[in-house]
Amino acid sequence: MSPAADDLDYKADLTLKRLQPRLDDVWLESQVDDAKRHEFDLRLAEYWRPLFRLLFHLYGSCYDFIYHLERVLMTAARSWSERSDDLCVLDHHRINEPDWFLSEKLVGGALYVDLFSENLSKLRDHVGYFKDLGLSYLHLMPLFAVRPGDNDGGYAISNYRSVDPRLGTIDDLRLFAKELREAGISLVLDFVFNHTSDDHEWAMQAQSGIPEFQDYYYIFPDRQEPEEYERTLREIFPTVRQGNFTWHDGMHRWVWTTFNSFQWDLNYSNPAVFHAMLEEMLFIANTGVDVLRLDAVAFIWKRKGTNCENLPEAHTLIQAFNLMARLAAPGLIFKSEAIVHPDEVVKYIGSHECQISYNPTLMALLWESLATRSVRLLVQTLGHRYRLPENTSWVNYLRCHDDIGWTFDDADAHAIGINAYDHRQFLNQFYTGQFAGSFARGVPFQENAVTGDMRISGTMASLAGLEQAIEEEDEEKKEFAIRRMMLLHGITLSIGGIPLLYLGEEWGMLNDYDFVKDPAKAGDSRWIHRPKMKWEFLEELDDTIGAEHGSIRRRIYRSTQKLISLRKTLPALAGQKMELLATANRQLLGYVRIWEGHRLIVLANFSETPQQVDGNRLRTVGLGRFFVDVIQGKTHATSEPVQLEPYQILWLNRS
Ligand code: GLC
Ligand code: GLC
Repeated sequence: MSPAADDLDYKADLTLKRLQPRLDDVWLESQVDDAKRHEFDLRLAEYWRPLFRLLFHLYGSCYDFIYHLERVLMTAARSWSERSDDLCVLDHHRINEPDWFLSEKLVGGALYVDLFSENLSKLRDHVGYFKDLGLSYLHLMPLFAVRPGDNDGGYAISNYRSVDPRLGTIDDLRLFAKELREAGISLVLDFVFNHTSDDHEWAMQAQSGIPEFQDYYYIFPDRQEPEEYERTLREIFPTVRQGNFTWHDGMHRWVWTTFNSFQWDLNYSNPAVFHAMLEEMLFIANTGVDVLRLDAVAFIWKRKGTNCENLPEAHTLIQAFNLMARLAAPGLIFKSEAIVHPDEVVKYIGSHECQISYNPTLMALLWESLATRSVRLLVQTLGHRYRLPENTSWVNYLRCHDDIGWTFDDADAHAIGINAYDHRQFLNQFYTGQFAGSFARGVPFQENAVTGDMRISGTMASLAGLEQAIEEEDEEKKEFAIRRMMLLHGITLSIGGIPLLYLGEEWGMLNDYDFVKDPAKAGDSRWIHRPKMKWEFLEELDDTIGAEHGSIRRRIYRSTQKLISLRKTLPALAGQKMELLATANRQLLGYVRIWEGHRLIVLANFSETPQQVDGNRLRTVGLGRFFVDVIQGKTHATSEPVQLEPYQILWLNRS
């Protein structure tokens, strides 16, 4: 170890010794018993030095560093002392089983409380629905108090400690979390920590001219600094406004707003902001959350002359938040929402940072493969990008509440002779239905008139061709659309990681064009794929009812449910280990999943024509001569070519 490193450990130890009496006060005040206090002390002994190091790195040069450090430590101790007994029990389990989320039994779902069931109390009546579908992880879209009017689907939070009154109360949330826990379902909530709403208390204080709170945000008196930053920034919401700053009339100042103009970016170079958000984070954790989805992680640190995305300090900050979780809410894990270049996405993933992460590259490339009927770019990418560190996991999804951006790597495309720029143009044309022969019915999101760039909105079913097929009353197209959906689910449910459904997918819900009628939503095409749950669909599960399109929905629901329950019976699908299988056929994706001596081969046909693969290839990787496709129950012998129907997916178990 270098002398400087030694020195920092020395400083850390000395600081902790000096802060000890303050800690003792917290324990005394909160009347925590010795055992609970001892657990904290043990973890503190393990995590204090690395924590000190991270915070010193970020804030060591601030004149009041020690003041903030003390507050950080007190907040951790207080939160731990307030943590409920059943959460502490869960903490124990999770500490002893740090890879709990790698189980094949884990299957996720995400929903908007208001669109699904109106409010939290009615949501409690639907725990049975989640269990019936097979979900064991539930992400509730942001449900905290928001500004009036447009609130970016809950991402403009005005108070992290109260639930939007239309949805319920914080006690309803605690109760729901408890009931989920009892049902064996993990709860996922957002930690929207890059920005607050412009009517959050801190923003209000800033608006009334209090410098302490103006320092919570990036606020500038004139255009000089914004313009210096702007030189290297990209625009995330170019249709909202030009650039990344918003003029505030009351303050007569410019405010940094990466997303909507009412979402003010927090200034994490100020240690007071780190501490303030830490308090909110631990408060949310203690309501009974298993996973926090770290929203917009890429944007949380800014430095002039850079694009202010994915900066090293962003990682340091998340690592510091993670250590705080280890200390005060050790069962909690983080999920990274970094929808950026694949090289950057992986940098957030690690047991010391975010244990799990959206897999936007897989998502985008599955849609890419459907459009091209070729898995070449997918295979090229997966080949060197799928593997993750131990005790971490991808979250594999097909659609979510956001748009689809074509975030593959240009060099991966180039390596197989694809021009990335042209290819993205093609994909945009294809998924907005403008390309001749396209089956998709997506719409543009944030089309940038200057760069020609855009992203895609639309539900899974509409993008997969169901909307067009129903409109054209074309039975063959309907069949293909449904098969495309099942093909994609069959992959996210088996490729390694946590599969995540965006609820509505289980019914093949189509685009909802009515969003334009609501002025608070009309300007944001993502609302097209945020439809309201239709509970009457449940009645269609009864075979005797033949409502219009009811049979399609019944088939989609039942097939999805079946794939989910199958996944849970296959130990090979635990973990993250995936090896590609060379199918020698660009329309066929193949891979093997291996877990503790179990093996499962997956073959997926991305075209509307039958395809085949040489049986010998299966024999060598699957270590067997006969395989059963557990989805259809059919046996395949490796002495012959294995046949796949249009868009068929096979899950092959050795028989
Ligand atoms: C995240 C959310 C997105 C939101 C943005 C700003 O990317 O997923 O819906 O618009 O952050 O909070
Ligand atoms: C950008 C951001 C991502 C966000 C999305 C919302 O892609 O990188 O964080 O979800 O915009 O549209």
